[in-house]
Amino acid sequence: MKSFVWHPNTQMKEWDSFTKIVKAKGMWLTDSDGNNLLDGVASMWCNVWGHSKPELINAITKQSKKTQHTSMFNLTNEPAEDLATNLIKISPGMHKVFYSDNGSSAMEIAFKMGLQYWNNIGEKKKTKIMTLENGYHGDTFGSMAVGYIPEFFNKFKRQLFATIQIPVPNKYRIPKGFSYQDYQNFCIDKIEDIFSKDEKIAMFVMESGAQVAGGVNIFPEGFQKKISKLCKKYNILLVLDEIATGFGRLGSMLQYTEQKSIPDIAVYGKMLTGGYITMAATLANKKIYDSFLGEFDDWKHLFHGHTFTGNPLAASVANENLKLYEKYSLIKKIKKHQKYLRNIMKEYQNWKRLEM
Ligand SMILES: Cc1ncc(COP(=O)(O)O)c(C=O)c1O
Repeated sequence: MKSFVWHPNTQMKEWDSFTKIVKAKGMWLTDSDGNNLLDGVASMWCNVWGHSKPELINAITKQSKKTQHTSMFNLTNEPAEDLATNLIKISPGMHKVFYSDNGSSAMEIAFKMGLQYWNNIGEKKKTKIMTLENGYHGDTFGSMAVGYIPEFFNKFKRQLFATIQIPVPNKYRIPKGFSYQDYQNFCIDKIEDIFSKDEKIAMFVMESGAQVAGGVNIFPEGFQKKISKLCKKYNILLVLDEIATGFGRLGSMLQYTEQKSIPDIAVYGKMLTGGYITMAATLANKKIYDSFLGEFDDWKHLFHGHTFTGNPLAASVANENLKLYEKYSLIKKIKKHQKYLRNIMKEYQNWKRLEM
């Protein structure tokens, strides 16, 4: 049957048809021919508990009988309120939660919050965004400008706003003449050099713990903490993108606590709802939030809002998802498995060496 769907990141000429998923349970997807496929990418790194988890389905079903969607523009809803409370509880340093419906939008909100913060407090020259090479923060225009991967986005280069991109240490791609440690120092020194000279730097944006879509690159120990310290020293906002790495994906609930680098703005997505309904959140500290307060005529409020912001179905499944993290001690389990996996990987490395 002819399909009218245009698929993401896909050269459609190469594809006559796509495997059609009709059912999913646990880690398995079933296609329309009855084949079972292992969901090895956790449905784009967002599924936490596997598919058709009864508790998550029940949360959606229960909420769907009350309200399915109501606007957050001057209204609120119980699941979104509860979720904000739950997120603030697990997010040291954060003060308020701003909802959106996907990671790219949540990053756009972070940029707007950060830039407007400086405007709100009268520091209007602070307009530049600094970031790391090979970062990825989504596919919308602001996110493309900040997480610029040339192969993906060079067609739009002329329309993207300028950012300052800092080289990033990668254990497997160390430039000639450097040791891994030397190169880390080089990158950190470069950041400090720019911070100390350019008064227009408003914020530093990076993925938290590791770069993912731009080529999996786990940051060296202490790298993120050093950037965080520099941001504090030079009074520059730190925005951490936890969308792909938070909620246990790298072994801790939040990478920013693991990396001892409390940001001014933290961004969550993907696993927030266990991978069941699209939702993302941009969290800001009190300093940022307070700068937006004023009289209506001051026009300091944040001009951003999506139709489905704070959707109650998504929020209720996110609340249930967070309950399951507690119920099953997920982070503790991941840490236990991490050790086991690390040992196996070491054994495998030694075995490969012997073979060669
Ligand atoms: C680190 C990071 N930030 C932002 C995004 C964008 O999220 P979304 O695909 O929900 O727009 C992604 C998506 O993969 C990501 O990995």
